[in-house]
Amino acid sequence: MGLSKKTLKFINKKCTRSLEGMTVLITGANSGVGYKTAEILIYLGARVIMACRSLEKASSAREKLLAEYPDADIRVMRLDIADFSSIDSFANELPDVDAFINNAGVFHRPGEKTKDGFEMVMGTNYMGVYYLGEKVLPKLERCGHDVVYINTISIIHKVAKVRYDRFFSEKGSYARSKLCLARYTEYLAKMYEGTNIRVFMSHPGITITQIASHIFGKWYVLAKMMPFNSTEKSSLSAPFILTNDLPRGSVAGPSKLFGGWGYPKINKKCKRALRDIDGLIEFTKGAVNKVNSGREETVKAK
Ligand SMILES: NC(=O)c1ccc[n+]([C@@H]2O[C@H](COP(=O)([O-])OP(=O)(O)OC[C@H]3O[C@@H](n4cnc5c(N)ncnc54)[C@H](OP(=O)(O)O)[C@@H]3O)[C@@H](O)[C@H]2O)c1
Repeated sequence: MGLSKKTLKFINKKCTRSLEGMTVLITGANSGVGYKTAEILIYLGARVIMACRSLEKASSAREKLLAEYPDADIRVMRLDIADFSSIDSFANELPDVDAFINNAGVFHRPGEKTKDGFEMVMGTNYMGVYYLGEKVLPKLERCGHDVVYINTISIIHKVAKVRYDRFFSEKGSYARSKLCLARYTEYLAKMYEGTNIRVFMSHPGITITQIASHIFGKWYVLAKMMPFNSTEKSSLSAPFILTNDLPRGSVAGPSKLFGGWGYPKINKKCKRALRDIDGLIEFTKGAVNKVNSGREETVKAK
C-alpha cells in the first residue's frame, strides 16, 4: 500500500535528511506504531532491525515490508522486554546500530506478571526498558560513532504520580510507567550529555492500534471510527527526530489538542518528568538488584 501522500509531503518538508547508511533498531516493530515507524525508516533509506518477542510475528511483518520495499535491508531479532534473561541474551548479540528506538509497550494486563515477578505494565514499559538500557547503552557508548537513543513515552505521563509504596500496583500503572520512563530518559540525557549518545523521547499522540483494544475494550470498534491520529501520522515522531538536529533531550510528538493529534514537533516538557529523578533511579536500581540476586540464588541452587 505504501505511505500516504500526506506522509510523503511531511517527510519532504520536515525530514531534512535521508537515513541512507544508518542502521536503526526498533523494539515491538511487528505491529502498530513500531511497524509503521519501521516502514517510514525504510522509505528514508535506513537498514532496519525489528526486535520483537515473537520471531514468527516479526518475520511475517518483515515479509509484508519486503513485499512493498523489495530492496530493503531488514533483520529480525528476538527480544522480550518482560524477561531480564531475554534482555541479557539480546544485549550479548546486539549488532552495531546508529539508532535504538524503544517502542514496545503494553497498556492493560490485569493479573499478569513479568518473568521476574513485576506487575506486567510497569515491568514491561519501565523496568524492562530500564534494564535494557543498562545493558545496551554502555555497549553503544563504546561503538565509536554517534548513536541516537529514543524512548517512547505517552502524553498520559502528564497526569501520573509516582509513589514508591504503590510502585507495582496495577492501578494507574500505564501512566506511571510512562512517567517513570520520561524521568529515566531525562536522567540518561544528562548522563550522556557531550558523549556519542544523543538521547530523546518520542510519543505518538493517540492512535488506534492493538494497544487500544485494551484501552477501549468492547468500544474498540467504535474507537476505530473516531478521528484519532492515523497510525502512520503517529509513527512520524521517531523519524522526525532522526532526520533533524534537535537539541539533546527533546521530546517530539504531536502537539495539537494536548498532544493527542497532529504531526510531530518539539513538545514543551512536563514538569513532573523533571522531579525526583535521583529517587526513582535509586529505587529502580534496588528493584533490579533484588531480581539479580534472586537469579544468582537460583543458579547456585541448580
Ligand atoms: N497507540 C497509542 O495511542 C499510544 C499512545 C501513547 C504511547 N503509545 C506507545 O507507543 C508504543 C507502541 O504502541 P502501539 O500503539 O503501536 O501498540 P501495539 O500495536 O500494541 O504495539 C506494541 C508492540 O510492543 C510489543 N510488545 C509488547 N510487550 C512486549 C515485550 N514484552 N517484549 C517485546 N515486545 C513487546 C508488541 O508485541 P506483540 O505483537 O507480540 O504483542 C507490539 O509489537 C508503546 O510503547 C505505547 O505505550 C501508544
